Amino acid sequence: MRKEKEKFKIFKEVFDESTMRTIYKLSSDGYIDYVIGPVSTGKEANVFLGKNFDDEDIAIKIYRIETSNFKNMWKYIHGDKRFEKVKKRKRDIVFAWAKKELKNLELASKIGINVPKPIISRNNVLIMEFIGENGISAPIAKFFTPKKPKSWLSKILNSIKDLYQKAGLIHGDLSEYNILNYKEEPYIIDIGQGVLKDHPIAIELLENDINNILKWFKKLGVKIPEFKKVYKEILGQEYRKNGKV
Ligand SMILES: Nc1ncnc2c1ncn2[C@@H]1O[C@H](COP(=O)(O)OP(=O)(O)OP(=O)(O)O)[C@@H](O)[C@H]1O
Ligand SMILES: [Mg+2]
Repeated sequence: MRKEKEKFKIFKEVFDESTMRTIYKLSSDGYIDYVIGPVSTGKEANVFLGKNFDDEDIAIKIYRIETSNFKNMWKYIHGDKRFEKVKKRKRDIVFAWAKKELKNLELASKIGINVPKPIISRNNVLIMEFIGENGISAPIAKFFTPKKPKSWLSKILNSIKDLYQKAGLIHGDLSEYNILNYKEEPYIIDIGQGVLKDHPIAIELLENDINNILKWFKKLGVKIPEFKKVYKEILGQEYRKNGKV
């Protein structure tokens, strides 16, 4: 077995001591054997490819604490009954965010939506199934256009509907940038901002998600249904802009 120091060297160059302690704990608790390398450096988080002790690929998403946009995060946490006790402090908000992504993945996974299977979250670290092959992550759908866009449109609209109706969840940042094309199947990722349907901004987020998806498929040349029709099918009520028909 490799030495701990060597196994997580790549993290040490990037993360603070408290994040390193979290990583070591996840390793000694049996969730991470070692890390292979970076997959992506996003606005809020870094994603790494690692291995668990069964030699399976895992995705390790580490939210940065210091440079987080915690004020924006707060908007999505405050009003979520699952996170009522979270204090309005940077670190607490980022930790809640990682946990929220885990909980949202659990909800989606349970009803059979294609998302990375959640494994565990601790503090600012989330571990999930790695979507890809031979250590190479599945491409982002924006850059790897589906071969059957018409069928993708109905699959994705169905996923939005099932998430809402069966899990009471709204993704909140759904677009071609947060969908991976894995063997020509859409896999939805990046669901940390996802809110429950009774959240104050839930409907606004749902409308955005629907619009983003319709716009994308329109660009791909698919005949898209009317927004109002999709809205009604998902919510079971007529679309009213600002309360007016
Ligand atoms: N479970 C996973 N399996 C494989 N690759 C993944 C997984 N999760 C994330 N990735 C890769 O990492 C990238 C960033 O992930 P994600 O969108 O969740 O983070 P983010 O912080 O929002 O990044 P960005 O700001 O770039 O959107 C994805 O586009 C994808 O390439
Ligand atoms: Mg993303």
